[in-house]
Amino acid sequence: MTLSLPEFNYVRRLVLDQSAIVLEEDKGYLVESRLLPLARREGIASINLLVQKLQAEPFSGLHRLAVEAMTTNETSFFRDFHPFEALKKFVLPDLITRRAAERALSVWCAASSSGQEPYSLAMLIRENFPQLVSWKIRILATDLSTDILARAREGRYSQLEVNRGLPASLLVKYFEKRGCDWYLRDEIRSMVNYQIVNLAGAWPFLPPVDIVMIRNVLIYFGVESKKEILAKVQRVLRPDGYLFLGGAETTFSINDSFERVQFERATCYRLRKT
Ligand SMILES: C[S@@+](CC[C@H](N)C(=O)[O-])C[C@H]1O[C@@H](n2cnc3c(N)ncnc32)[C@H](O)[C@@H]1O
Repeated sequence: MTLSLPEFNYVRRLVLDQSAIVLEEDKGYLVESRLLPLARREGIASINLLVQKLQAEPFSGLHRLAVEAMTTNETSFFRDFHPFEALKKFVLPDLITRRAAERALSVWCAASSSGQEPYSLAMLIRENFPQLVSWKIRILATDLSTDILARAREGRYSQLEVNRGLPASLLVKYFEKRGCDWYLRDEIRSMVNYQIVNLAGAWPFLPPVDIVMIRNVLIYFGVESKKEILAKVQRVLRPDGYLFLGGAETTFSINDSFERVQFERATCYRLRKT
């Protein structure tokens, strides 16, 4: 490893404090491979000098960039398929009945990365629930990373990205090809609002939501952080709302207020009735 143990431990502590992401002792290679491009971009000659600069200076944009560099932004359209089938067949029809008087629905995609998840949901709504056109639909997508949210807002995807999970019919209907990339049309892009929210920090005021999707992010956190975050989700989710986690995540033995609900091959969680 190029970094000394104290330098490596400094990065681990910084990332834990600022994002709740736990970097295990054997993740030296990961830290180095993620910090190297940042050092290059900033014109710093080595990752040792980068870390020494971080250690010496008060918290700044560089610290934020170092933390963001350690996040994993892996995502895809309609990721895991089954949760989106459950949304289409069970969850949205149920909520549409429950909210018929309000004519409003709100979804929060926490840790939305480059936008494939909230945009999949927006396309799913537009395709399958034409009656919602006159409803107030609020899709809020948040993430820790400023750069990744800027990408999401832009709605520009490479050929490789649109090849992952996006049906061809939706590609031709909702995207426009310019040069090598595909741009999401405003009709879908404008359905999603973006905001920076660090799940590990103080949350801004979030109005109660019907669906929370917080997928493939809790896996990076320790148990105490998961407990704190799910306790806050519990307060934001409406009592009859739905929570979706990633395939490797669960509320089990972390927050007993949630119960598991199975829809065909999809799992989601609802607040137990008290
Ligand atoms: C693996 S992606 C998951 C994207 C999407 N939810 C999905 O399942 O495809 C994880 C995302 O979590 C974000 N993230 C990591 N720590 C975070 C934190 N403390 N607060 C908010 N977002 C965070 C990362 O920036 C990254 O975009």
